[in-house]
Amino acid sequence: MKTLRFGIIGCGMMGREFASAAARWLHLPEMNVRPEIVAICRRTISAENIGWFKDNIPTIRQVTGDYRELLGNRDVEAVYISVPHNLHQTFYCAALEAGKHLMGEKPFGIDTEANDAIMASVSKHPDCFVKCSSQFLFFPAVQRIGRMIEAGAFGKIIEVNVGFLHCSDLNPAKPINWKRTVEANGEYGCMGDLGPHVCSVPFRAGWVPLNVWAVLSNIIQERPDGKGGMVPCQTWDNATLLCEARDSNSGDVFPFTLRTQRISPGQKNNWYIEVLGTKACAKFSTKNANTLDMLEYNGSEQVWQQIEMGQEVPFKSITHGIFQFGLSDAILQMWAGFLYEFDNGKPFTKFSGCVIPDETTLWHRLFTAALESHKSGTTVALE
Ligand SMILES: NC(=O)c1ccc[n+]([C@@H]2O[C@H](COP(=O)([O-])OP(=O)(O)OC[C@H]3O[C@@H](n4cnc5c(N)ncnc54)[C@H](O)[C@@H]3O)[C@@H](O)[C@H]2O)c1
Repeated sequence: MKTLRFGIIGCGMMGREFASAAARWLHLPEMNVRPEIVAICRRTISAENIGWFKDNIPTIRQVTGDYRELLGNRDVEAVYISVPHNLHQTFYCAALEAGKHLMGEKPFGIDTEANDAIMASVSKHPDCFVKCSSQFLFFPAVQRIGRMIEAGAFGKIIEVNVGFLHCSDLNPAKPINWKRTVEANGEYGCMGDLGPHVCSVPFRAGWVPLNVWAVLSNIIQERPDGKGGMVPCQTWDNATLLCEARDSNSGDVFPFTLRTQRISPGQKNNWYIEVLGTKACAKFSTKNANTLDMLEYNGSEQVWQQIEMGQEVPFKSITHGIFQFGLSDAILQMWAGFLYEFDNGKPFTKFSGCVIPDETTLWHRLFTAALESHKSGTTVALE
């Protein structure tokens, strides 16, 4: 089997998820290429915070606190960069300048200006393979919805609703961290964190927002600083975006809503999609990650049916087809999508390729317009 030698920059929550996916590659018997992690970088190096990586990944040959050192390592062919949003532009552009293939994290730049700079660097380095992480495309039910979209099975689209609902900031006693500061997380707040995930399927479908009316809420306005005091918490906790979208295949225009909420009581990490069409409707939420609700209308009864999905995955797994699927399986499938496309020059199917840089630009335009809409209290056009 071929290997692609990776460096990880940012060894936090998502860096560990990639390391775990790479260690589970034996689940994917039909892949011809696998990731090998040879270098890691995080801001502070201690036995405690890199021990897990060193103990579990014997192929690591470089550990550094300086991303430039990792990028200077000729042994590293590709990088996964999962760092706070204010570092995306500098780190992604430096990786491309160093000729590394890149899996970046969302939102792919803290704001439009940073995204423009990254996109300019992507254009300047066409030999670098560049994608952005978003695993929700890879849930079996979402793959099924993707195939239905490709086949035109929904008929004329009536309405699309997507969202990502968290409870992670419900507790006002939770100390502030970089994700709750405008400096490190960005003006977008919850939109920059959660919004890219909810855009992944609609944008791949070719459903392009034409305008947006946004309601943004900062519900908990100060938080403990972790040192006994309180500090302002100025990021948007929740966002509701009401849009019109155009189906770029049919030209039809329909209502499109996106909800990204960090304070959503009763939720944990629930990503959902609802597509209502004249011939079929589908609903899926990671709250019931193995069930797809579907209604097919042929002029007679309207019957919602529930389909148990199991392991209906794009990249064949050794896991039995009836076994339930989870978020870490989606992350493994996403990485398989990255490596498959790297190796074959094209995605396995339309919906089994990772998010492309152009899709990140579209969400930056949407979130920037949403900020403007909230500020002005008006509907803002994207075209
Ligand atoms: N795909 C997903 O589901 C998902 C989920 C959460 C976060 N994310 C994204 O992943 C990225 C990182 O988020 P996270 O939750 O892993 O954050 P985290 O705080 O857990 O980890 C961030 C890491 O960046 C490192 N870092 C910070 N400054 C650095 C520097 N100057 N040099 C080297 N390393 C540095 C830190 O040491 C830390 O290890 C963000 O872009 C975030 O939006 C994606």
